[in-house]
Amino acid sequence: MIIDAMTDFDIAPCLTKGPLAESGLEFTNAARNLGDHPFASVLRAWCIPSLFTRMEQLLERGDDPVDGTNSALCDLAGFLSLANSSGFKSIKTNGNLPVPGENAVEDADVKEVTGDHYGNLFRGFSSQSYWDEPAKLLEQRLTRNGIPLSEIQNKSVLDSGCGGGRYSAAWRLLGAAPVVGVDISSINIEDAARRAELGNLEDIFYKQGNVLDLLFDDDEFDIVFSNGVLHHTTDWEKGIAELMRVLKPGGWGWLYLIENPGGVFWDVIEILRVVMKDEDKSTSRAALQQINLSANRIFYMLDHVMVPINLRLSPSEIEGCLHSCGAVNVRRLQRGADIDRIEHIFQGEQYAEQRFGIGENRYVFSKPKQ
Ligand SMILES: C[S@@+](CC[C@H](N)C(=O)[O-])C[C@H]1O[C@@H](n2cnc3c(N)ncnc32)[C@H](O)[C@@H]1O
Repeated sequence: MIIDAMTDFDIAPCLTKGPLAESGLEFTNAARNLGDHPFASVLRAWCIPSLFTRMEQLLERGDDPVDGTNSALCDLAGFLSLANSSGFKSIKTNGNLPVPGENAVEDADVKEVTGDHYGNLFRGFSSQSYWDEPAKLLEQRLTRNGIPLSEIQNKSVLDSGCGGGRYSAAWRLLGAAPVVGVDISSINIEDAARRAELGNLEDIFYKQGNVLDLLFDDDEFDIVFSNGVLHHTTDWEKGIAELMRVLKPGGWGWLYLIENPGGVFWDVIEILRVVMKDEDKSTSRAALQQINLSANRIFYMLDHVMVPINLRLSPSEIEGCLHSCGAVNVRRLQRGADIDRIEHIFQGEQYAEQRFGIGENRYVFSKPKQ
């Protein structure tokens, strides 16, 4: 499989039907017509914070988000067309982007490209974004869903796809031990180990490895945790089977996977994925650094927009897989931290469905005692 061989409509189905189809196409065509001049790449990268900040303002206000998102997409299309008409020409291909697939990512390379993408995004996190926020978020997510912190004390935890280790550290700070983080990226593993050492955190270990082929024996961990990882891999179902395999009988797991349907929030991200699919990641990071966005804002904006695979799954797909892997007590969590989409839905905010679809697919599940 070649990942970039996906059509624009596979990447962003909202371009074929739905309330953003027309304005989305106007924007993606205007972005594409800029051509492949290096300045065009910077302009396209700047479309990301432009649309994200417009979207955030819209999602914060209580009005219908669809009209505002359409205007944001049309405004940006108009701006890009203006830049183009004032003599902004391609130096290589007379206004065409590189042939689709030119930067194709082979299946075998997906995990390396994905690992580097996240390694480069996580390593600049400030200590507040790394130490304080994740622990607060994890505590809210656990306790609001009826899981008291007493249940995790001295329990062994696997953080499968730990990134730079922010949630591994959070589990440890909340009392779990030992905590083991695994990630494919050497940048992430080195950074996570360095931060743990600087923070004098004991009983926390990091190993480089593949979440689709975990380097642990069966039945090793009291708790398995995978936060926002398997939807970026070539085989999310294998990833769930691996979590179940290494979980102890009687232990429990926590899984977050992107939701489908996902409202305007995910439609905008998928439209940006179309625009950015052939762009160089380091140029895009540099373009956002130049406008002084913090490392965690850059992570937030480039995370899903520039990763090779970004699958969105329905609850029935996830529940079907969990059950077929032998999980019991499968529960979709209805609460989240204040910033979570599911919490906005739980609070019954106006237009929550148009904004966020069904909200994050966060699950807890158990492995039966033998
Ligand atoms: C969105 S980040 C989430 C990181 C972390 N769970 C968090 O919430 O901060 C996804 C992570 O999955 C890792 N990853 C992707 N595919 C992987 C694979 N096949 N094996 C191990 N790690 C993988 C990436 O390197 C990246 O760090």
